[in-house]
Amino acid sequence: MTHNFQIKSLQLENPFILAPLAGYTDLPFRLLCRQYGAALCYTEMISCHGLVYNKKKTLQMTQTVPQEKPVALQLFGADPVMMGKAAAIVSDMDIDIIDINMGCPVKKVVKKGAGAALMQNRNLAAAIIKQVCKNTSKPVSIKIRTGWSHDSVTAPEFARMAQDNGASSIAVHGRTWTQGFGGDVDLQTITRVKNSVAIPVIANGDIVSYQDGLACLARSGCDGVMIGRGALGNPWVFSENGTPETLAKRMRGLSEHLHLIQKYSNPDTILARIKNHAGRYFKGIKGGLAIRKQIYGVSNFSELLELAQSCNN
Ligand SMILES: Cc1cc2nc3c(=O)[nH]c(=O)nc-3n(C[C@H](O)[C@H](O)[C@H](O)COP(=O)(O)O)c2cc1C
Repeated sequence: MTHNFQIKSLQLENPFILAPLAGYTDLPFRLLCRQYGAALCYTEMISCHGLVYNKKKTLQMTQTVPQEKPVALQLFGADPVMMGKAAAIVSDMDIDIIDINMGCPVKKVVKKGAGAALMQNRNLAAAIIKQVCKNTSKPVSIKIRTGWSHDSVTAPEFARMAQDNGASSIAVHGRTWTQGFGGDVDLQTITRVKNSVAIPVIANGDIVSYQDGLACLARSGCDGVMIGRGALGNPWVFSENGTPETLAKRMRGLSEHLHLIQKYSNPDTILARIKNHAGRYFKGIKGGLAIRKQIYGVSNFSELLELAQSCNN
């Protein structure tokens, strides 16, 4: 049994959420995950500077359609004024939540004071949350890590600061910046965050099945669970019945994904990205290697579509 929950006035139909994944959580993939049961999906992180300076590539990343609602648009940046301006811009779009990235470990982002670096600068983080809230009437959420390093696990106090400055929900990836994506997820600290604030808390890290998600909800007491890598090539992670074992059923999932890609993007310009998605549907399954080789070998999108359809017949 799962429960629904609410972020400010936004009612979510279940606690399963698609994480923001740069390079992956574009409109077609978000729509697919919504169809398979995710209650809310996050966009890839979007630069506040790119929005304010009207950069074409950045604006493309804000693409949304009513069918995917609700959607959370994630901003990143380290300048409160720019983040406020970006919030005002995206507030006019048909999105439901503005999320602020405070957990990205990538050097290029951290060096500029954004992403996980904000966990080391609580005053700046507070100023950013305040400015974003001031410039929108939509719920504002933050996504954080447990802290900077094992001797600086600050997520519970950081979460209280965010709540005090207007945040409406908090997602916590259960690792520190120094851990990157390795080592164990610290569910204890996530639970401490949940117990430190009154706003909804969403647990994140290494959830790879629906059952994992239920177990995490029960153990942490969190309101929601967020799934990233576990959803790649596996939108079934959001459904109670789980990932199918047959190649044909997985191919059906891929076909649906490809049709969404065809409808909402210009597939031949992003073929490498599509192949990356497609290959993931056949990991850990008998006969998967041969299909992955065929996928990587196609030279255009229609060949890939044909391959998926021939296996469906
Ligand atoms: C390829 C990749 C891209 C990511 N991009 C983002 C991002 O744009 N914004 C963000 O807040 N987190 C990003 N993350 C972190 C994930 O949202 C998530 O916190 C992390 O992967 C742990 O969850 P998981 O084990 O379910 O994948 C990214 C992670 C990966 C692997």
